[in-house]
Amino acid sequence: MHFSTKTVVASLLVAATSVQGHATIQPNAAVPGSSYYGAVRIPHGCGEVPTNNVTLLIPDGFLSVKWESQFGPWAVTTTTKTLNPPVTGSHGESINSTIASITWTAQNGAHILNTEYYDFRFSGALPKGNDGDVVYFDIIQQCENGASYLWGQRPGQNLTDNTPNRTVSSAPKVSLFLNGTSIKATAGDGKSGTTTSNQSSDATTLRAALAGAGASIFAAAVYFL
Ligand SMILES: *[C@@H]1O[C@H](CO)[C@@H](O)[C@H](O)[C@H]1NC(C)=O
Ligand SMILES: *[C@@H]1O[C@H](CO)[C@@H](O)[C@H](O)[C@H]1NC(C)=O
Ligand SMILES: *[C@@H]1O[C@H](CO)[C@@H](O)[C@H](O)[C@H]1NC(C)=O
Ligand SMILES: *[C@@H]1O[C@H](CO)[C@@H](O)[C@H](O)[C@H]1NC(C)=O
Ligand SMILES: *[C@@H]1O[C@H](CO)[C@@H](O)[C@H](O)[C@H]1NC(C)=O
Ligand SMILES: *[C@@H]1O[C@H](CO)[C@@H](O)[C@H](O)[C@H]1NC(C)=O
Repeated sequence: MHFSTKTVVASLLVAATSVQGHATIQPNAAVPGSSYYGAVRIPHGCGEVPTNNVTLLIPDGFLSVKWESQFGPWAVTTTTKTLNPPVTGSHGESINSTIASITWTAQNGAHILNTEYYDFRFSGALPKGNDGDVVYFDIIQQCENGASYLWGQRPGQNLTDNTPNRTVSSAPKVSLFLNGTSIKATAGDGKSGTTTSNQSSDATTLRAALAGAGASIFAAAVYFL
């Protein structure tokens, strides 16, 4: 088969563009107030330089946070924040602190190469909300040469961060849909799907929409608050 130089250059450009993804939260659509099981997806390094440390900043209202148990080379550290006023848990208890951030730090020289991606899994309870509400999760991605990304910019915002060698880019988001209609989920395997439903079947439809995501949403009425 013969490829002209133009074709090859065009293909390389397409390939280069397609790897320049943004850090995301997967899946990126959910029912407000539902239990959420998802992941921080780091799609590339800082230029060619591998990633060795990733921090997820937990947004306000996202509670009951857990992170996937790590059997591999990533150590997990967390910070907490005070809930003022406290919230009432599912057993009527008063909860006055919650997870503020989760950091995954590579041990023993492990890293995510620029040619690789990795999903850091976590779960929690989404805030209640309305159709079209968006929950932003900020992410800090650190690389082995001290370069980093802050995935934290909101639409229309001009976020500045004077940390040396830091690139600021858009914050990943999870969009909330009350009834499961028009859920557009980017699945874990790279497939994306759109679905329609009506109120009676939203849990089923959501699961169907997100099937194969490798991360699942349970749209059942499990509220932690
Ligand atoms: C993550 O990396 C940053 C920069 O290298 C470092 O300051 C921080 O301590 C690391 N976090 C952990 C938990 O090791
Ligand atoms: C938070 O709750 C714990 C235990 O429920 C309690 O010991 C602590 O005093 C509370 N802290 C604040 C700041 O209210
Ligand atoms: C920033 O990048 C430059 C050039 O690669 C490097 O010399 C410097 O040490 C880096 N600074 C930090 C804080 O990582
Ligand atoms: C964003 O802010 C920076 C620094 O304050 C400024 O140089 C830049 O022009 C601003 N960009 C936009 C699009 O407003
Ligand atoms: C909506 O629900 C009704 C009854 O549960 C069902 O008959 C109908 O087919 C559903 N419509 C869609 C678009 O799923
Ligand atoms: C579901 O939500 C969409 C988007 O807000 C709305 O247009 C539609 O009417 C809703 N459907 C039902 C059955 O509530």
